[in-house]
Amino acid sequence: MTAIDPAVQAHLDETREARLESWLEFLRIPSISALPENAGDVRRAATWLAVELGRIGFEHAEVCDTPWHPVVYADWLHAPGAPTVIVYGHYDVQPVDPIELWTTAPFKPFVRDGRVIGRGAADDKGQVHMHLRAAEALFATRGRLPLNLRIVFEGEEESTSASLPGWLEANRARLGADVVVISDTGFFEGNLPALTEALRGILYTQIDVVGTPLDLHSGSFGGAVENPANALARIIADLKDRDGRVLVPGFYDDVLPLDDAARRRLAALPFDEPVYRASIGAGPLQGEVGYSVLERKWMRPTLDVNGLWGGFQGAGEKTIIPGHAHAKVSMRIVANQDPEVLFERFRAHVTEVCPPGVTATVQLLGSGRPVRTPMDHPAAIAAARALEETFGRAPVTIASGGSIPVAEMFEHQLGLPVVLMGFANPDDNAHAPNESMVLANYETGIRTICRLWDLLGETAETTSRGT
Ligand code: BES
Ligand code: MN
Ligand code: MN
Repeated sequence: MTAIDPAVQAHLDETREARLESWLEFLRIPSISALPENAGDVRRAATWLAVELGRIGFEHAEVCDTPWHPVVYADWLHAPGAPTVIVYGHYDVQPVDPIELWTTAPFKPFVRDGRVIGRGAADDKGQVHMHLRAAEALFATRGRLPLNLRIVFEGEEESTSASLPGWLEANRARLGADVVVISDTGFFEGNLPALTEALRGILYTQIDVVGTPLDLHSGSFGGAVENPANALARIIADLKDRDGRVLVPGFYDDVLPLDDAARRRLAALPFDEPVYRASIGAGPLQGEVGYSVLERKWMRPTLDVNGLWGGFQGAGEKTIIPGHAHAKVSMRIVANQDPEVLFERFRAHVTEVCPPGVTATVQLLGSGRPVRTPMDHPAAIAAARALEETFGRAPVTIASGGSIPVAEMFEHQLGLPVVLMGFANPDDNAHAPNESMVLANYETGIRTICRLWDLLGETAETTSRGT
């Protein structure tokens, strides 16, 4: 079925076991960007990548310091006349809690039922590893690549990429390229190959409600003072109505209506609601009235509480009015919405609806802008062809409700078109216990990447900037 170079194919067939072992080794590094105690591990993962990149044939492999976690850069630029592609991926992962729901330790990955299970297997260390091994196969069989590659692997994606804008600005000179390929998205339900056309952005906040300096006896004081946990519950209740509409004034002001053609394309995708519900163990689906499930999760903005705490959490009873209560609240935003403008509207609303007697403050933890990619770009067309030739069927075009902040930075800060070609699966448990990746997607996807580089190398005449 595959149209890839037989020598590359043979090399990949021979090195399958070593490749898996290397992938597992990479996954054993607990590179959790959010937790300060893992900062050393994040750096260890960066160093691991830089060493590998240099070993397989890239040049200028470097662990670049930033104010927080490092960026790994490498390049190979010896295909004059051929296009230059930036490959972006992230080597940081999400925290592992609730740890008790993992069937095995998150950083002791293993293979079961055709999947590699472990934190980062799919998001995104598995896909970063695919790019390493694809390039390695080309270097090993030909001593060169068919096009010019610049590698940018970051360590803060799961923490809204705070250092990336500064790093991109400072490194403009070595980020000249024709296109960016990002493998941090996935296939459609049912493991259907897909290319992703659009991603939502994100606005991540924390609400802190404070009452008294110390917890109070709820018998002695209950009824006489406002309770921060009750107050927080009221605030949260005022964020969304029962029709799934966000109640922050102005939240929808900049949202463009869905166009009919886009709605028809979404409706034509083979989405099976009962199967979807069963796959996530959900009851009847809920969301904004007037929109389909795919429209709700891909095209419409929304708001969710991601965490909620305060007061007594232990066993048994403890009668207090807690001194404070907290919530992590994030919003998924769509084209034309500006996270900074929305943050101010959100803050004003929370302050406004906070009951008297307690104070609510709102912190901005991070944000990322939405992005739409040009599906008619030659590299997107080549990616579709490479997927079809290796996976045996033409990819569907999807969107995703998730966010990759750097995608928009490449588009607008550096003016580069982005292609979102990912190999994960909706049932990979990304961010959840027992994250996994389908081994066949990993293996075939490596062939897809090799094929894409060959296709782009061949189209040198039409896509090169002529540098
Ligand atoms: N790979 C995901 C983004 C994604 C999710 C793409 C689902 C396609 C489908 C990425 O690592 C991610 O999780 N991003 C975070 C954003 C971040 C700023 C914390 C997200 O979407 O929550
Ligand atoms: Mn990711
Ligand atoms: Mn993620």
